[in-house]
Amino acid sequence: MASSMLIGADNLTLLKGSSPNQLRFIRPQYSHRTHFPQIITQTRAATRTKTLVPKCSISAARPVSQPRFIQHKKEAFWFYRFLSIAYDHVINPGHWTEDMRDDALKPADLSDRGLVVVDVGGGTGFTTLGIVKDVDAKNVTILDQSPHQLAKAKEKEPLTDCRIIEGDAEDLPFLSIVYDHVINPGHWTEDMRDDALEPADLSDRGLVVVDVGGGTGFTTLGIVEHVDAKNVTILDQSPHQLAKAKEKEPLKECKIIEGDAEDLPFDTGYADRYVSAGSIEYWPDPQRGIREAYRVLKLGGKACLIGPVYPTFWLSRFFADAWMLFPKEEEYIEWFQKAGFKDVQLKRIGPKWYRGVRRHGLIMGCSVTGVKPASGDSPLQLGPKAEDVSAPVNPLVFLLRFLLGATAGMYYVLVPIYMWLKDQFVPKGQPI
Ligand SMILES: C[S@@+](CC[C@H](N)C(=O)[O-])C[C@H]1O[C@@H](n2cnc3c(N)ncnc32)[C@H](O)[C@@H]1O
Repeated sequence: MASSMLIGADNLTLLKGSSPNQLRFIRPQYSHRTHFPQIITQTRAATRTKTLVPKCSISAARPVSQPRFIQHKKEAFWFYRFLSIAYDHVINPGHWTEDMRDDALKPADLSDRGLVVVDVGGGTGFTTLGIVKDVDAKNVTILDQSPHQLAKAKEKEPLTDCRIIEGDAEDLPFLSIVYDHVINPGHWTEDMRDDALEPADLSDRGLVVVDVGGGTGFTTLGIVEHVDAKNVTILDQSPHQLAKAKEKEPLKECKIIEGDAEDLPFDTGYADRYVSAGSIEYWPDPQRGIREAYRVLKLGGKACLIGPVYPTFWLSRFFADAWMLFPKEEEYIEWFQKAGFKDVQLKRIGPKWYRGVRRHGLIMGCSVTGVKPASGDSPLQLGPKAEDVSAPVNPLVFLLRFLLGATAGMYYVLVPIYMWLKDQFVPKGQPI
């Protein structure tokens, strides 16, 4: 029974299962006849090799057009915007008194009237009233997306000298601000990051590394522990996420650029290592992104792609499908192999309390690596991009998809909390 709980993809099962802490595909011997990758099972007692045998087909093709909430980059963009709003409302519930506000502002150290302050999501200016007690109003900017909220702020006498601006749809400061403090701790811890980066083989400080979808630089911080920052490039489509990376002292010497994972602005054969963590789930066409990983690597270079896995529990599967891309383990391997990579390996990852369970497809699920065996472009040729962000969107369909996607997102915020609680109560040694 334990073994069936430990399965990442619902159509794979272990022969003779014990409860592994860490599973790793090694050199899958994919030939036309045998499609069953071997795995290493690491237990305290010994390291054993077993064979995975699929119950049914190895991999069903996933149509690019399969509807899910985050279907293309524009929707990822809006998703971040709305998640930010929900977060703001959760953190700032109705009971927000002047005492609480002043108490909460103390650590902001508003000790100088000349400080330049931005109050982001300032709304009707309630918190700004607390700020201008200490800082000259002319140095304070209130930014909010709602003109109606801001109109209320404008009516307040102490705020007359404040700069009041509407943040438009492209201002996504909120998720970037809370990302490292709220989103990562539940799903993507430093331990997990270091575990997931281990197969990337960052063995030389002189390696040239690209971190694609590098966001706020959380994974890059793990990379620069092993590689000189001046050799590392962080690429992301979100300038707001990148702004957070720029603030991090250990990343000061990294090159930081905006760009698209599916169309990388690097020459063929540019990098020794390609790393991408927690970004593939937003890519409209993951095969295209992995093909790009192959192209930008030097001969013998290694790609390390870290991403979620498809859950096995029915409700988690439902929400995963509705939300974004949770690839199956076989899909990762297939995409790497089709792109031309050799020595493709898959290592399962998860938080300490995770106990190897794949039922909910926790956001960080596996680290897949492959080596580029020949110089030049990928042998895989793809047609033009399928994504069309300019096509008109039916507002009703958008609203329904938004509501379903937001519910799914909330579900996945709760999953780690639920799993952590379960870990506190279920006796150690038993799967959760
Ligand atoms: C979940 S965050 C992960 C950030 C970072 N790698 C980490 O480990 O914390 C996903 C990031 O992927 C970026 N992203 C999504 N689609 C992208 C694309 N097509 N090209 C580049 N970046 C993309 C998002 O902007 C976001 O910063």
